[in-house]
Amino acid sequence: MSDLEALVLQAETDFSAAADAVALEQVKARFLGKSGTLTELLKGLGKLDPDARKTIGAAINIAKQKVESALEARREALRYAALEARLAEESLDVTLPGRGHSKGGLHPVTRTLERIEALFRGIGFDVADGPEIETDFHNFTALNTPENHPARSMHDTFYLEGACDVMLRTHTSPIQVRYMQAHVARHAGAATMPEIRIIAPGRVYRVDSDATHSPMFHQVEGLWVGESVSFADLKGVVSDFLHRFFEADRLDVRFRPSFFPFTEPSAEIDVAFPSGPLAGRWLEIAGCGMVHPNVLRHCGIDAERHTGFAFGFGPDRLTMLRYGINDLRLFYDGDVRFLSQFR
Ligand code: PHE
Repeated sequence: MSDLEALVLQAETDFSAAADAVALEQVKARFLGKSGTLTELLKGLGKLDPDARKTIGAAINIAKQKVESALEARREALRYAALEARLAEESLDVTLPGRGHSKGGLHPVTRTLERIEALFRGIGFDVADGPEIETDFHNFTALNTPENHPARSMHDTFYLEGACDVMLRTHTSPIQVRYMQAHVARHAGAATMPEIRIIAPGRVYRVDSDATHSPMFHQVEGLWVGESVSFADLKGVVSDFLHRFFEADRLDVRFRPSFFPFTEPSAEIDVAFPSGPLAGRWLEIAGCGMVHPNVLRHCGIDAERHTGFAFGFGPDRLTMLRYGINDLRLFYDGDVRFLSQFR
């Protein structure tokens, strides 16, 4: 056996004897390190004459490759053994129940909005939408709100910085203005204008904050415009809706005279529950009325030929009444202990 073959054999034996990765690297240094046996042999080549250098050099390189592959094989074997040991040590109980993912749910006000939309779609109403940043015209002027009306003051309305005619909408009525304008444009030139039946849900903003007021809250307004729409229709639609919303066969609904610039006559709608914790009290729940002819005119509708009614509900308040919630702020704190009750 040549010296080189003996060297390779020695390396293979020593590698096999190394019990772990650290020991193996130490053995490796003895053969392949800076002053390892093979490295020294290669360094010695320089002293040989060219012919001998060629043959011996080739033989050393072959031996070096064998040592390197023996090293790699041992490394692999040790890695495998370590993995085996870990698998044997760790045990996995596949019969344990999983941790599970907790399911999210819809926000209670969103549930109310969806419920209101479903009920009104059921009687042929469309659901309309509009921007939350509005112009003075859509939010106030078209709605017959006089220049000096208190709602226009900075105490009540969030104006955009540097703009006195752009604001966060204070109600969803501008959606109705936009819808009426678009409806008129769509049917321009037709002999008769088809009826308008929409609800307008969305977020609205007012400078207000306490247990029953939030600077951002929700509204759902409704509008029905046609050639023979009356206050009787308003009463029918609204009280039918309220009975269905509260799932109550017996529910007292009353219309109390009131004032809004955009309706004439106007009324507040009160409800009283016959039983339950709120029984026996009138609760104010919405505003409503017959659309003021000026509003129809601002939107391009012939007010001699058409009448309409409008109403506005607060879905936040409806949600509070339906679920017995006493603080509006709970809706906007994002406390999971509260919200998870509505999953
Ligand atoms: N827009 C009114 C408000 O925000 C509510 C309302 C709508 C009243 C329609 C009457 C008719 O106060």
